[in-house]
Amino acid sequence: MRVLVTGGAGFIGSNFVLRTLATRPDVELTVLDKFTYAANPRTLEPVADRLRVVKGDIADADAVDPLVAGADLVVNFAAESHNDNSLRDPSVFVQTNVVGTSVLLEAVRRHDVKLHHISTDEVYGDLDLDDPSKFTESTPYNPSSPYSSTKASSDLLVRAWVRSFGVRATLSNCSNNYGPYQHVEKLIPRQITNVLTGLRPKVYGDGRNVRDWIHVDDHNDAVWTIIDKGVDGETYLIGADGEVDNLTVVKTILRLLGRPEDAFDFVTDRPGHDRRYAIDSTRLRTELGWTPRYTDFESGLSATIDWYRDHSDWWAPSKDDVEASYAKTQRPLSAP
Ligand code: NAD
Ligand code: DAU
Repeated sequence: MRVLVTGGAGFIGSNFVLRTLATRPDVELTVLDKFTYAANPRTLEPVADRLRVVKGDIADADAVDPLVAGADLVVNFAAESHNDNSLRDPSVFVQTNVVGTSVLLEAVRRHDVKLHHISTDEVYGDLDLDDPSKFTESTPYNPSSPYSSTKASSDLLVRAWVRSFGVRATLSNCSNNYGPYQHVEKLIPRQITNVLTGLRPKVYGDGRNVRDWIHVDDHNDAVWTIIDKGVDGETYLIGADGEVDNLTVVKTILRLLGRPEDAFDFVTDRPGHDRRYAIDSTRLRTELGWTPRYTDFESGLSATIDWYRDHSDWWAPSKDDVEASYAKTQRPLSAP
């Protein structure tokens, strides 16, 4: 099978590529990636002789067309992915996440190639902390941020191309991923690398916001399950029952690194900050038979800490720029 992986040099896409190379000898991989700040060229260097890597933009129809024509399947991970950045400059989010997805859709339509579109639970908005419900495939879309609204738009485009043009596509909406090769702008790598470089972790607002954590390998195994067994036109939610609030995440990182659990700072909250995400993945589990392997968050987090401790050459070059950028908008708060 010839698979085109867009965004294959980013966090989840590169883990997908590495896992596919390790587990699927029948798959021939091509990566199309714009190599934005979020892509680290070092990630795929060790496997460069086992795949084709093309630097290009999913919104560039001329670049996309021949690559899609030569594929049996496109898996679309390419996106601008960080909420905080989308609050600073939404325009590139519209361009990549909305226009880029529409260009991919036109190419898969032209060449009758199957698409799996990667999306997020954030399209459903947020839940109250005391709400017992979780997101399901039938929860109405209600995105909050420029990032999540462009991802919601991309999902709607995929659904429209399925219905109007008969494009063969599946969609998945996953919760917060953690694991190796995640950019240091995101919560878990930021706080691990803060501690490793002598900085104090930074918690937005009151720190009671809840995210539903899943290991990136569990996400990517679910993606392959959907590719193998999913029904065209359908959406599957991916989650591993990993709800944890941000304060607990940060305190656990501090404890696992041998620091006092209160050695962090509260900083100004993210505007429009979603309170809680929670996924009900019953459909994926019962209809397609997927189950997560990483069910103990603390041991997955501990392995992730070890990875960042052992790979400072991978993340150190971007650390100062990320912290300088955050320092422009984030101010210390006294503890709530
Ligand atoms: P990331 O920011 O780490 O990687 C995104 C990749 O896309 C980068 O390699 C970047 O260079 C590439 N890219 C950006 N614009 C591009 C363009 N115009 N053309 C081609 N390539 C481009 O993101 P991630 O965390 O790996 O997320 C991947 C996908 O998974 C996204 O669609 C995101 O919405 C979705 N998702 C992420 C999470 C999460 O927790 N990180 C959870 C659910 C869904
Ligand atoms: O839910 C899936 C989404 O998860 C994906 O669609 C996004 O691509 C991905 O970035 C992630 O979005 P979040 O906004 O939830 O992730 P982030 O790592 O930015 O923040 C996680 C939580 O931690 C959130 O409540 C904000 C908070 N936070 C974040 C940072 C960077 C802090 O308290 N301090 C921080 O320094």
